Amino acid sequence: MSYTNLLVTDADGIRTITINRPDQLNALNRATIAELDQALTETDADKSIRVLIITGSGMKAFVAGADIKEFAHFSVPEGKALSADGQKKLFDHVETMSKPVIAAVNGFALGGGLELAMSCHVRLASDNARMGLPEVSLGVIPGYGGTQRLARLVAKGKAMEMILSAGMIDANDALQWGLVNRVVPQDQLLSTAVELATRIMKNSPTALAAAIRAVNAGYEPGVNGMQREIEEFGKCFGTADFKEGTSAFMEKRKAEFRGE
Ligand code: COA
Repeated sequence: MSYTNLLVTDADGIRTITINRPDQLNALNRATIAELDQALTETDADKSIRVLIITGSGMKAFVAGADIKEFAHFSVPEGKALSADGQKKLFDHVETMSKPVIAAVNGFALGGGLELAMSCHVRLASDNARMGLPEVSLGVIPGYGGTQRLARLVAKGKAMEMILSAGMIDANDALQWGLVNRVVPQDQLLSTAVELATRIMKNSPTALAAAIRAVNAGYEPGVNGMQREIEEFGKCFGTADFKEGTSAFMEKRKAEFRGE
């Protein structure tokens, strides 16, 4: 499938989706969110893909936010629908993918851009990256999960400071705050993401999916994360991957996981 606002490339089981509106700093308009929704669905269904990397086109921005020009004249119901629809199609969709998703943050990650990075399972950043939730400077608040996910990642006090000041932090502060896992020079960002993806994809796809579900469960309202872990752990014992992983260990050979 080809897209207007995305570039999709596959190599050795790793898919890279590049948000490709560089003249608008890859701002997320509704068309781009709809394409990402479609691309995520296809990626989840494609057994040949084991890990997904999401990045932005160009040297300047990962994503500079939701498209301000598109929503500037929205009414109250349209604003509410924009948030609800975006959360469902993109941000919750990324977070609940059954395959690990790595954000390669290659520059500005502002507003919806930081919210997208925070929805991914792992975040790597280039040394020129700058991150923030500047929505209150526009008279609005983060609406793509930012008020919830930022507080989970960096704790409430820092999240409040970042959201209320509408300020940006640089990559090193983001690293110190725990907002990103690693900072590398920009020309090494994608190769570092591929290296991590390659390490991850040596593991059982069924176990990776179960691990994502179990970790996410701890943040679902009304869900007992420990109980979900017990269930997911138990289910692993019925998979071919578990049989293969444990047999390979005992036979002192490398496991060949088929994701079943
Ligand atoms: N929505 C729509 N367009 C955006 C955008 C956004 N979130 N962010 C950047 N753009 C567009 C600019 O309007 C400009 O387009 P134009 O050339 O057609 O006018 C183009 O991208 C380049 O951006 P520009 O502002 O000229 O670059 P800069 O280097 O001077 O500043 C930023 C970079 C990121 C600091 C600045 O673009 C910015 O503050 N963007 C908005 C960030 C934001 O508030 N995001 C949250 C949205 S809820």
